Amino acid sequence: MDKIIIHGARRLKGRVKVSGSKNAALPILVASLLTDEECRLENVPELADIDTTIGFLKYIGKKIARKGHSVHIAPDGHLKPTAPYELVRKMRASILVTGPLLARLGYVRVSLPGGCAIGARPIDIHLDAFDKLGAKIQIKGGYVETRSRKLVGNRIHFRYPSVGATENTMLAAVLARGRTIIENAALEPEIADLADALNGMGADISGAGTDTVTIDGVEKLGGFNHRVIPDRIETATFMIAAAITRGSIVLENTRPAHVGAVCEKLMKAGISVKSQGTKIICKWVKNLKPVSIRTGVYPGFPTDVQAQWMALMALTQGRSSIGEDVFENRFMHVSELQRLGADLKVRGNRVAVKGVESMTGAPIMVSDLRAGAALVLAGLAAKGRTEISRIYHLDRGYEHLEKKFKKLGANIKRIHC
Ligand code: UD1
Repeated sequence: MDKIIIHGARRLKGRVKVSGSKNAALPILVASLLTDEECRLENVPELADIDTTIGFLKYIGKKIARKGHSVHIAPDGHLKPTAPYELVRKMRASILVTGPLLARLGYVRVSLPGGCAIGARPIDIHLDAFDKLGAKIQIKGGYVETRSRKLVGNRIHFRYPSVGATENTMLAAVLARGRTIIENAALEPEIADLADALNGMGADISGAGTDTVTIDGVEKLGGFNHRVIPDRIETATFMIAAAITRGSIVLENTRPAHVGAVCEKLMKAGISVKSQGTKIICKWVKNLKPVSIRTGVYPGFPTDVQAQWMALMALTQGRSSIGEDVFENRFMHVSELQRLGADLKVRGNRVAVKGVESMTGAPIMVSDLRAGAALVLAGLAAKGRTEISRIYHLDRGYEHLEKKFKKLGANIKRIHC
């Protein structure tokens, strides 16, 4: 298993190009199941989760060619209506194949999902939406079986604005008969990007990116030729890297509007953040002030940046509080940050942070994707040697992470053990 070794306490400086968004690319790749025509997706990051999705689509019935950041998808025989446990357990987003396969085949059997170990993560909102579209649902032997003759549009009110459920419902309703209205839909930019790709295929979706999405079903969809939006979580991670290492980083290929909440908190902490078109210039200028956060749905502070923010606050003089309101068990990085010397106390879904002057490198272990990013950031700031194991979690969602940090001046390397 690979490890990352960091010799920290170096200021990072330079330019970094942000990759395409993992969370936008995944549902758009899955959207190719809605058509027999060829599809092309650009700006796709090279990541383990993308490899898993491509393997999955090949299993279901697609021929896929990948060249750099470009993915070409063509049909390869009949679609299979099954998503087995061996494929789904690797990645929770695999549940997204339910929508398109149900719409096209009228039957789908998908293993209950796995993915990051950050809480129960049920799928009741997805299943309730399929029920409202007229599907019959059964859970048997760890599998969800969904069937329906022809889906029929309906008004669906989500009890919570789930990102995955909004995507899954859109992916089903585009081929349903009549109009579907999703109320209390998720607002995340990845939803609007999926809608753009689907509309490019001939779908009729309006309101994506607001809390009410209207989908008028169509008979048939064509292929897509789409470019994935930049990854806002990677963007935020590099901005925090500039702050935590007292450095100065120019981020290229970003959408500054997608990281508004993080920029606002960074500026409150005393970081200089300037945007120029698709660039963000992030610079440490003086000792940071503690700034508390609570995660929330977009445009609130992203749960996927909570761990990284905690690493930053751990080194900021004074007290702050980190609240996690999206997932119920997302503090697994706390014990590892404590190993580096952070002063953190978990109280329910809040962590009380008392900033320390410095942290010191130690062997630490990654528990999930974004926790891994936080540990790398902490290692970059800590004095001495940090050895990070179980970095396969990081490879799920950060493209060439150590190479990008190395280019910014970090003393970081990957070793194969
Ligand atoms: C997506 C992102 C993930 C991010 C999350 C929240 C992808 C591939 N992943 O995950 O990186 O952290 O949005 O921004 O895009 N819930 C239910 N029932 C459901 C569905 C969700 O109770 O049917 C709960 C979850 O347990 C969780 C909350 O809703 O507490 C948010 O989940 P959701 O928005 O669905 O996140 P994902 O789509 O899984």
